[in-house]
Amino acid sequence: MYLDNAATTRVLPEVAAALLPYLTEQFGNASSVHAFGQRARAAIEQARRSVAALIGAAPAEIAFVSGGTEANNLAIQGVVGAYRSSHRSHIITTAFEHPAVLAPCQALEAAGLRVTRLPVGAAGRVRAEDVAAALADDTLLVTIMLANNEVGTLQPIADIGALVAERRRRGQAIFLHTDAVQAVGKIPVSVRQLQADLLSLSGHKLHAPKGVGALYVAKHVRLAPQQLGGHQERDRRAGTEAVANIVALGRAAQLAAERLDQMEAVRALRDELERELRKRIPSLAVNGGESPRLPSIANLGFDGLDANRLVIALDLAGIAVSTGSACSSGSTEPSHVLRAMGLPAERVRGSIRISLSCETAAADIARVIDVLPKTVERLARPRAAA
Ligand SMILES: Cc1ncc(COP(=O)(O)O)c(C=O)c1O
Repeated sequence: MYLDNAATTRVLPEVAAALLPYLTEQFGNASSVHAFGQRARAAIEQARRSVAALIGAAPAEIAFVSGGTEANNLAIQGVVGAYRSSHRSHIITTAFEHPAVLAPCQALEAAGLRVTRLPVGAAGRVRAEDVAAALADDTLLVTIMLANNEVGTLQPIADIGALVAERRRRGQAIFLHTDAVQAVGKIPVSVRQLQADLLSLSGHKLHAPKGVGALYVAKHVRLAPQQLGGHQERDRRAGTEAVANIVALGRAAQLAAERLDQMEAVRALRDELERELRKRIPSLAVNGGESPRLPSIANLGFDGLDANRLVIALDLAGIAVSTGSACSSGSTEPSHVLRAMGLPAERVRGSIRISLSCETAAADIARVIDVLPKTVERLARPRAAA
């Protein structure tokens, strides 16, 4: 049973069916003048319209890239590369962004920019007042995620967008980027309503394949391209377009728009999961649970337990969830998100993320409600002496 949809999602059969002909039959290079090329070009432009429609953008404002990581890097490095000057050298972000935002900000800091990392508190939510207080005359970029990938908490991007837009009206070259990789397809997203100047999304979080994503770049934003080469994607991203993946992203965007209302049923399942688990495990904590959240994520804290052991025990029971923290070469790092929220070390060590999708069935959640408390109880028992 797959309950790790914040990590990645299944490619929907409709999406795979749309993709396949662009590998085997319509395999043209979209820059070619012949009919093969023109059919590939037409398919890309159709996908661009579908992605634009999902987030309320104009098609020309969508640049296809390889995924969320590239979209974030292109947004941040691209804006700084195009606009940085001695009096435009300040970035505002938060302490609990995805590494694909944290790392470029860190690199720019090492290169001499000033970076303000705002706190998010135990609620997992930055305050628009804190952004207002941090804005300065040299602020060039505000980059704050729309929904956090570990706890699902929503950030007040529309309020922040209004602050940034007001400064731009007064003549400041300042832009708002939001990493909406987790939010798109789960909640309604409109770049106009958010007043975002740049927005990142990723295919594999919304039932398209890995290796494709898009960056929304508002018409008034210039970007310094981050890879140099051909003139693809209106000079925003050089390289032959991944036609089949882009077609798949377009189809997934259409389906996401059609199925957005199903996310309320997902929310009801998530809420039921949390409610029933709380009854059975009175000490259970729902991290970020007091804030407005995505409908699809439950981040659950079991104080005193090792979350890695719990994830493995659940996997053995056929339930795939995650700790939500980076794991490499066998060493697990404690979640920087939960730490940024100021949660005690014991809670950080004992938290798992369960993430649903429109494919999650009520029976799946019923099984977790049955299995999880028993597993927690077993792991909490002192181990028998060897
Ligand atoms: C919030 C957020 N931003 C960016 C990314 C990176 O996206 P991709 O895996 O497409 O590079 C992820 C993926 O985990 C994410 O959750």
